[in-house]
Amino acid sequence: MAHFPVMSAEVLSYLAIRSESRIADMTAGLGGHSKQIAALLDSGVLVMNDRDGESLAEAVENTREFAAKIRPTQGVFSTFPERFREMGIGQLDGLLVDLGVSMKQLTEPERGFSFRHDGPLDMRMSRDSEQDLTAADVVNTFSEKEIADILYEYGEEWRSRAIARAVVRARPIHTTRQLAQLAGQGAASRDTKVSPATKTFMALRLYVNREMDELKALLEALPGLMAVGSRVVALSFMSTEDRILKQKFQEFQRAGLAKILTKHVVKPSDEELRRNPASRSAKLRAIEWQAAT
Ligand SMILES: C[S@@+](CC[C@H](N)C(=O)[O-])C[C@H]1O[C@@H](n2cnc3c(N)ncnc32)[C@H](O)[C@@H]1O
Repeated sequence: MAHFPVMSAEVLSYLAIRSESRIADMTAGLGGHSKQIAALLDSGVLVMNDRDGESLAEAVENTREFAAKIRPTQGVFSTFPERFREMGIGQLDGLLVDLGVSMKQLTEPERGFSFRHDGPLDMRMSRDSEQDLTAADVVNTFSEKEIADILYEYGEEWRSRAIARAVVRARPIHTTRQLAQLAGQGAASRDTKVSPATKTFMALRLYVNREMDELKALLEALPGLMAVGSRVVALSFMSTEDRILKQKFQEFQRAGLAKILTKHVVKPSDEELRRNPASRSAKLRAIEWQAAT
């Protein structure tokens, strides 16, 4: 499968990498961005992070020509500061975060992320002991109200109550196809290109992986991680995530900690949209860190 790192020219430009830079790719995925970053480094170092050990192993493989400059590390954002400190690198000159799931995670049916493929209802980004709760646990053991609240809060799904009711009545639910059918019942889907199950799947994925809490933890950790003059570049694909980034960047700017480099959110070019339609909802924001901490 062809893999295009999203908005890579813009990412590299905003990161303003020098040959001696210390850069962290917080979301290595398959190593698409990491490979381009590593190619620009000489004495610099790339810390390549992902919570998903299977993806990180692929990223390591895909970037092996630059292995001498790369320090792979597995874990969630919230444990990164501790792991980074132990590496003894000091502070970062650049940090990239490309939120969401990778193509690998999305298209492997056994990971349970996609309503387009039938698979077990898993949805954990990391299938090791770091994460126990699966999407199946949520739909089969949570109360109808809890499920409705998750669909509404994380998926902005206005049919949350009806879907939660259908889910609870149909239990046990084991597969993505079963859930997709339940989430689609009663929806006026014929007029839209988007599947009526989209929001349900997105909400469960965000909840199971605590994605909002993780993003907030990463943003809170920036003051201790970033060097003066360093850059932070964030790519997001959902309005809920973009809102968190926008507000926190504004807060940093008001506090004199950072300067916003993207007055308006940056979106993929027409050329990129033609080449990679999957990039259509991408939004890029960047800041320059200004305060010594
Ligand atoms: C969109 S993909 C990144 C793709 C990558 N930039 C590339 O070019 O191949 C997002 C990756 O971030 C990882 N991820 C998401 N949330 C994370 C978190 N809180 N901590 C660590 N990794 C996370 C996922 O496991 C996934 O592999």
